[in-house]
Parts: sequence; structure tokens; C-alpha cells
Amino acid sequence: GVAAPAVHQLGGQLGARIDGVHLGDDLTAEQVATIRAALLTHKVVFLRDQHDLDDDAHARFAERLGPLTTAHPTVNTGSARVLRVTANRGMAANSWHTDVTFVDRVPAISVLRAVTLPPYGGTTVWANTVAAYASLPAPLRALADGLWAVHTNSYDYAQLDEEHDQPDANYSRDDFTSTVFETRHPVVRVHPETGERSLVLGNFVKRIEGLTSAESHQVFHLFQNRITRLENTLRWSWQPGDLAIWDNRATQHYAVADFDEHPREMRRITVAGDVPVSVDG
Ligand code: SIN
Repeated sequence: GVAAPAVHQLGGQLGARIDGVHLGDDLTAEQVATIRAALLTHKVVFLRDQHDLDDDAHARFAERLGPLTTAHPTVNTGSARVLRVTANRGMAANSWHTDVTFVDRVPAISVLRAVTLPPYGGTTVWANTVAAYASLPAPLRALADGLWAVHTNSYDYAQLDEEHDQPDANYSRDDFTSTVFETRHPVVRVHPETGERSLVLGNFVKRIEGLTSAESHQVFHLFQNRITRLENTLRWSWQPGDLAIWDNRATQHYAVADFDEHPREMRRITVAGDVPVSVDG
């Protein structure tokens, strides 16, 4: 439709719901601009009642936000563009992460659609990595500014985490790590659209360059704990027809695995991003 979307802020640090917009082919450039502006401001935005969105319409909408990238570099879900997220444990989605940080060009935006929801649980929580950086005392911001981290999909970091669930059958660890990717990113990146500084950490961090593994662990948690404090998060309870759009350059998220053996299926389409740029350019 042509109505102006209405943006309702949901949390003190991030999150907004956008009402009054139907994601069809008649979406106007102004509506797309409103969605993009809300996304850059609120970091994660939600649209309800998009019941007629199928994979193709989902992809056509995501493409209005930028060129798409492959759904996932290693998990083959039968489509180049659409990632089926069914077994969150196997995907390590129930750990704090930014999507696909183990490649050089980290995806810019993720668009996630609820397909099958459990009768309870299965919420997703987002955290603001820009606000986390801004909340640091000046000496810790200066420390973070100079650090680089190695990111990998081979789960080295997660293996240190006793809480981490074993993958289940739907997504085997072998799929996810069929090709081992490893790259380095600055711990603080300058957001290419907003100019804001953001912490680039999460589950795929293997180590902080130049530190021992014990120091890496401590420094990682020093910053990661700022990201995940509850005041810096927003939790979303999914309903059928919901769509979430997040700025992957300014957030981490965590899919809460508290729905027992009930099925839960989400579909994710990813907009390509840039190589993160450090504060030194
Ligand atoms: C993801 O990590 O991209 C999926 C989040 C979810 O399934 O809620």
C-alpha cells in the first residue's frame, strides 16, 4: 500500500516495530527509505502480519535493501539465497553472534521470516553493539579501538564454552564446517552508513590477536559482557507472519533454544556487506 509506515520504538537501546506497511511489489521507494532509516536508527525492526510472503517475495523485498549474498557459505539448504534455520543448536544460533563474521565481507543486513513457530519459547534476543561500545569507559574504548580478532566457523571458541549445545541431526557440524573460514576483523569497526563505532565480536571469535589464549578469553568477555547485558538487549516473541530485519553491522543476536522438541523454522535472506573498516581507516 501507499500509507506512510509508522515506526514505534520498542526498547531503550534498540528495536522498533513498523506498522502500516505491506511488503509486496507495490512497496514504494519512500516506504523502503523509511524502513532503511528506521533500521539504521533502531538496529532491528519488526513487521507483523506479512502472511503472504513466500521465499521469492521475501527475497524481492530483501533486494530492495541491497544486493543479496549467498544464504550461508557452508550450510547447503537447497537454495543459494534462502537459509532455512531449523535446528538452532546445530547452527549455534543459541549463542550470541553477529551473522557470518568468519568471512571478509560480513553481511550488512539479515531479513528473517517466521515460518513454523513452537507453542512456547523460541524468542530471539538482539543486542546493540554500537551502544555497547559507547557505554565503555574511555580507557576501554581506546583498548578496543586497537585490537583485532580472528573469526572462524570452526567453533574453536564455542568449544571452550561448556554451555554450548551439541549440534543436532538437522544441521550437522560437518555441514557447517565443511569449509573452514578464518579471517581477521578490527574489534571496533566504523559503520559504513552511520559512521558509528561498533564492537565486532560474538561466537565466531577464536582469539584476539597478540594476546595469549587466557588473555584473549578475558578481553573477549570484558567487551562481550557489555554487549549482552540485558539493558542493552531487546527480546522478540514471534507470531506467524512476523519478519525481523537487523543491521548485522550494529547488532548481535541469540535465538533462545527453550522450545523442547517442537519444530521451529525460520528463513533468512542476507544482504551483502563490506569488509569492516577499523577506526584507523
Ligand atoms: C539467526 O541466528 O540468524 C537465526 C535467529 C533465529 O532463528 O531466531
